[in-house]
Amino acid sequence: MNCQKALYNAKRILGYKSTKSPILDSEILLSFLLKIERNQLLINLDQIIKKNDYEKFIKLILRRKKGEPIAYIIGFKEFWKNKYFVNSDVLIPRPDSEVIVEESLKLIPKKAFFNILDVGTGSGCIILSILKERKNCFGVGIDISLKALKVAKINAKMQQINNRIKFINSDIDKFCFGKYDIILSNPPYINSFGINYLENDIKNYEPKVALDGGIEGLSCIEKLIKKSPKLIKKKGKLFIEIGSNQLNKTKRLLYKKKILH
Ligand SMILES: C[S@@+](CC[C@H](N)C(=O)[O-])C[C@H]1O[C@@H](n2cnc3c(N)ncnc32)[C@H](O)[C@@H]1O
Repeated sequence: MNCQKALYNAKRILGYKSTKSPILDSEILLSFLLKIERNQLLINLDQIIKKNDYEKFIKLILRRKKGEPIAYIIGFKEFWKNKYFVNSDVLIPRPDSEVIVEESLKLIPKKAFFNILDVGTGSGCIILSILKERKNCFGVGIDISLKALKVAKINAKMQQINNRIKFINSDIDKFCFGKYDIILSNPPYINSFGINYLENDIKNYEPKVALDGGIEGLSCIEKLIKKSPKLIKKKGKLFIEIGSNQLNKTKRLLYKKKILH
């Protein structure tokens, strides 16, 4: 069988019920299996696929059909300028969070020796992307999930910045180590009820601890804002990713703690 036929079969198995993008998903999974880039696959659709590989491919397709996210199946996700190892212990990095990287880089001069804290580091994608761009900076990534930190450590090694980052297993509530020029966080901020309305791929596969922000979605944000004054240096900056409907409540918490005036 050639790749074109394999892709055709895969697309029919997947259909549009299990994924919005059966064609793209099939192409990504086949190129992953054949260890080639997707564009290489697409210009070599006549290439014959071995029976053994075809069977493995269909197994991947069936995992996708059940709703497992592509990133968990292939074991990585691209974020900012690099690929990050991911598994079901960490949130899959989202393009939205690249804004934190972009905005904080604007505040960190190229040669600065900044100390940066990432609260709820997960795969480590945010802090590692920043450290990769700022060679003199040091980072601390904390997470309540020990399993997530194992993933972050693998990524730090892969990016060869494990000598400039420390990972600590802690709840932000209990964390009191160091003073930072920049604190950044993509905390869990979905309200507990809203979790039920997330897409199946997310709610059935991504870690609840990475999503669930309590009744109003603000519990981790609140803990972070309460703790920040103790952790941040004078003139330090705090970046938090929040939900689109959480701006006013977050601002109120910041005023209360005199972080915003
Ligand atoms: C939305 S995920 C963000 C992961 C990663 N920073 C990213 O942007 O892809 C939130 C992370 O915060 C961690 N977390 C949840 N509550 C926490 C808490 N109270 N203190 C520290 N980390 C927490 C979760 O384990 C999860 O890894």
